[in-house]
Amino acid sequence: MRDPEEFIEEAIEEIRAEIDDARAVTALSGGVDSSVTAALAYEAIGDRLTPVYVDTGLMRAEETAEIESTFGYMESLEVVDARERFVDALSGVTDPEEKRHVIGEGFIREFEREARAVDADYLVQGTIYPDRIESEGGIKSHHNVGGLPEVMDFEGIIEPVRELYKDEVREVARALDLDELVAERMPFPGPGLAVRVLGEVTEEKLAVARAADTVVREELAEHDPWQALAAVIGKGTGVKGDNRVHGWIVSVRAVESRDGMTARAQELPWETLQRIQSRITSAHPDVARVVYDVTHKPPATIEYE
Ligand code: XMP
Repeated sequence: MRDPEEFIEEAIEEIRAEIDDARAVTALSGGVDSSVTAALAYEAIGDRLTPVYVDTGLMRAEETAEIESTFGYMESLEVVDARERFVDALSGVTDPEEKRHVIGEGFIREFEREARAVDADYLVQGTIYPDRIESEGGIKSHHNVGGLPEVMDFEGIIEPVRELYKDEVREVARALDLDELVAERMPFPGPGLAVRVLGEVTEEKLAVARAADTVVREELAEHDPWQALAAVIGKGTGVKGDNRVHGWIVSVRAVESRDGMTARAQELPWETLQRIQSRITSAHPDVARVVYDVTHKPPATIEYE
């Protein structure tokens, strides 16, 4: 990629020229793509940009607090607590694509309300190059690409990082002096933990996925995976104390990749895997089994749904 500083200058100029003195909104998820996008747009037009963060209840531990502390410098930041609305809307939904659809729709509704409230004319989106490829190829409906522009009547849509790969977005994040936490952050899917609990989304499964995710991130930090995750993939038999239990099965996955389009399962030391297993099974009394996923992409995708 060309010089990140040059890219930043040009992107800011492009945003300013397009939006002029109007108002814009952008969806902030805390991921590196949307963070860089919001930072560029905020640099360009200041408080005429409203970054909207929707807490869907499908986030990882501490995520909302981290967003508030990292982006609190943007006075126009809107944090929407939509946890109950999402969990209610997902009740009884088991099909993966339908889950994505419900979440996408819910997200649009929350976002639309905020955009109307500030009377925004422009939408700034953090779409990156691989999002467009995968969405056009129809592999999974990545809701950060479809959806918003179709239902909302914006004067214009601006996608400042549309030509960049994830590693290039990270370079820009560093050049922007965004918190190292943001620049180094692993990709996290828009539908959040909902695609990491197979079948219906319940508070119980979400709690297991969240506790396991924290362990995986802590234990794997030194191994620097491109992406690592824990998914609740079903229930099976185990023994806890003197009793047979019907407990959750958690699958741990760590991959190396450049852009998520293909990936290799990461080789990890046995001790690391055992420590993860032992911490997850003790962190949550209802987890009976932890497995490590050794499948590359293809044939598996990175996420479980
Ligand atoms: P898959 O599972 O398709 O994932 O191999 C490739 C990359 O995309 C992320 N991903 C998503 N991101 N909305 C998103 O914004 C989604 O619905 C979605 N599904 C997968 C995944 O985490 C990985 O980095």
